[in-house]
Amino acid sequence: DLYGAERLNSEGADLSDPTVVGPLLAGMETAFAKSWTAGPIVGGLTPEGNARSVADPSDNARRVGTVLDSGANDVERALALATAGHRAWAARPVVQRADCLTRAADLMERNRNDLLALLTREGGKVLPDAIAELREAVDFCRYYATRACADFAPMTMPGPTGERNELRLTGRGVFVCISPWNFPLAIFMGQVAAALVAGNSVIAKPAEQTPLIAAAAVRLLLEAGVPPEVLHLLPGDGATVGGRLVSDRRVAGVAFTGSTDTAHLINRTLATRGGPIVPFIAETGGQNAMLVDNSALPEQVVDDVVTSAFRSAGQRCSALRVLFVQDGIAPKVIEMLKGAAAELRVGDPALLTTDVGPVIDREALGVLRQHVEKMKREATTLFEGVLPPSCANGSFLAPHAFEIDRLDRLEREVFGPVLHVIRFKGDKLDSVLEAIETTGYGLTLGVHTRIDRTARKVAERMPVGNIYVNRNMIGAVVGVQPFGGEGLSGTGPKAGGPRYLTRFAAERTLTVNT
Ligand code: NAD
Ligand code: ALA
Repeated sequence: DLYGAERLNSEGADLSDPTVVGPLLAGMETAFAKSWTAGPIVGGLTPEGNARSVADPSDNARRVGTVLDSGANDVERALALATAGHRAWAARPVVQRADCLTRAADLMERNRNDLLALLTREGGKVLPDAIAELREAVDFCRYYATRACADFAPMTMPGPTGERNELRLTGRGVFVCISPWNFPLAIFMGQVAAALVAGNSVIAKPAEQTPLIAAAAVRLLLEAGVPPEVLHLLPGDGATVGGRLVSDRRVAGVAFTGSTDTAHLINRTLATRGGPIVPFIAETGGQNAMLVDNSALPEQVVDDVVTSAFRSAGQRCSALRVLFVQDGIAPKVIEMLKGAAAELRVGDPALLTTDVGPVIDREALGVLRQHVEKMKREATTLFEGVLPPSCANGSFLAPHAFEIDRLDRLEREVFGPVLHVIRFKGDKLDSVLEAIETTGYGLTLGVHTRIDRTARKVAERMPVGNIYVNRNMIGAVVGVQPFGGEGLSGTGPKAGGPRYLTRFAAERTLTVNT
């Protein structure tokens, strides 16, 4: 029984094994040379039209492929087809929908080199991150397939004799899935797979920066057996294409991952568009902190800070932004941190020697540079990484760290490899927790302490979705660390967790007088 058995997460690739790495790099090299295209995929077809270039963030002169953005006609056709296609899809036995996800997971693994190449060139991901992302996408498909078969079985409710009561989950209708560029495969697939297996038809709106990998994923889902009237892709501008979709009353639910500002906008549109009241699943930004007290192990702290703040060029919603370090241990931690950060190699994400790849585009780089300049004026510079000459043509920012005196010096999430450090006195733990809480964000929080009482106190008190004690605070694993925040960081339910699918479904109770 494929879905009843214990499910294992996918294996990934051992990058220390030359017999694994050789063929993988060769396969990716072949994939780099392909001419990648994306465009609206509506009813399985892509129209002709004037496509724009999709840039490679590590080399602004290099084109990864082309994309045709969606027009009003594409949006209308997708909505009409998805509305018409929903019932037949929802009526299928759940195992058939789950089988599509399972086949899609297998196909992703079979097309590994293409997907890794796109993650590296279009998404700017270093190879270990690209591999982890592919694994996550595969795991989402298999996990939701398994969960759906368990959750969507009709549930008999206890009741009076002479009456049969049954609770069923069913698809809601057309679900719109809007995703960010920073996990262009895993988050894209996670949303779409969940909405599909719950019995919805889906219109997916990928981020402007990463349409190629989204198109590749949709083609695999269609190849895996998802009917073309049930799944549509609409690349294009967020406000135009996304805005049109969420304001349409035929849409029965929205799953969104991206910035808190955009989530607020969509929430307002859904509240004022009229028509049915629909679920809005939002997974948004964070102002993530790590607390380090004097009892912590400095070596472990530094390793985990570097991983949490600078890996993936700090472009994870879960990434560490503000390190609170107690005054006794602070000088040592800061000194070691400077040394560790200086070791990080920034450069081409396709090279195995690279630790930190580019940020997603020139616009993001501009925003980050402005922040760095502001910090240089207003804070103490702890270190400022230097870019090698090979980075000259790309959107690169070397890791930086600044010491600031108060958390409210940061107005918003700084989405890149920039760490902020605040020292605190031993008796000020409560005010530190209060400051973190006052930001209103609640996505991830790290704690380094060898005092159990402190770890327990933080975990019990803080309204934060994912709390990590004595380890790094990124890379939640599907089915192991259900992921998602609270407050300004999101609505829940948690992605990769046992309750995620139910939010994509309507619950219906059938009472029969026997
Ligand atoms: P973004 O909000 O700019 O864009 C996200 C998506 O929304 C894109 O597809 C975009 O085209 C679309 N969009 C933009 N305006 C829209 C509108 N008016 N109506 C409908 N759709 C619209 O975010 P981003 O820059 O792509 O992603 C980075 C952000 O995502 C960060 O804040 C990060 O913290 C957050 N994020 C959160 C999680 C999580 O799980 N909590 C995961 C990854 C990223
Ligand atoms: N789920 C991703 C992480 O945990 C964002 O880093």
